[in-house]
Amino acid sequence: MKDVLCIYYSRTGKTRQAMEEVALALDAELVEITDGQDRTGFKGFMLSGMEAMRRSTRPLQPFATERNLEDYRLVVLGTPVWAGRCSSVIRALLKRRGLEMKRVAYLLTRDSDKRYEEIYDQMDQYVAKPRIAAVSLRVGDVGYNYWRDGFIREVQSFLN
Ligand SMILES: Cc1cc2nc3c(=O)[nH]c(=O)nc-3n(C[C@H](O)[C@H](O)[C@H](O)COP(=O)(O)O)c2cc1C
Repeated sequence: MKDVLCIYYSRTGKTRQAMEEVALALDAELVEITDGQDRTGFKGFMLSGMEAMRRSTRPLQPFATERNLEDYRLVVLGTPVWAGRCSSVIRALLKRRGLEMKRVAYLLTRDSDKRYEEIYDQMDQYVAKPRIAAVSLRVGDVGYNYWRDGFIREVQSFLN
């Protein structure tokens, strides 16, 4: 049984891609979550942006992990940046289950030049202990591999 969990939400596949790569490198369990809300198209974009700005969340669809959340050495949370905040789906997970996670690390994906590192502190408010590592990635960007691999090394050195 793996003792690192990579759990994420992805609307258009970029966070999924990054989390798949990180989970493979860390030999971690990989789980995708959703709240079941249709977020496709312009309506879905607007709804998602509005929820992120209001910090509102919906109940999550049930999801299964091999261990209880508190039994992982580390939980890596992956989320797209929405309106300068974490996605409402990952906020829903943090709100409801954040305190069960012993140690956390964050992976953000975004489109713009800005790294949105203030989101790390916002996410820390839902967990018992501050993150051990965090990264903000632009999937497909020239620096992508450099930042992703730096994050993987930081997490590995924590785990060792
Ligand atoms: C509602 C919404 C708001 C967004 N706001 C931002 C933003 O403030 N800054 C940014 O750089 N990217 C923003 N994006 C772009 C996404 O963060 C980016 O495309 C991300 O990598 C998508 O990940 P995904 O494919 O896993 O859903 C936004 C996307 C959506 C849908």
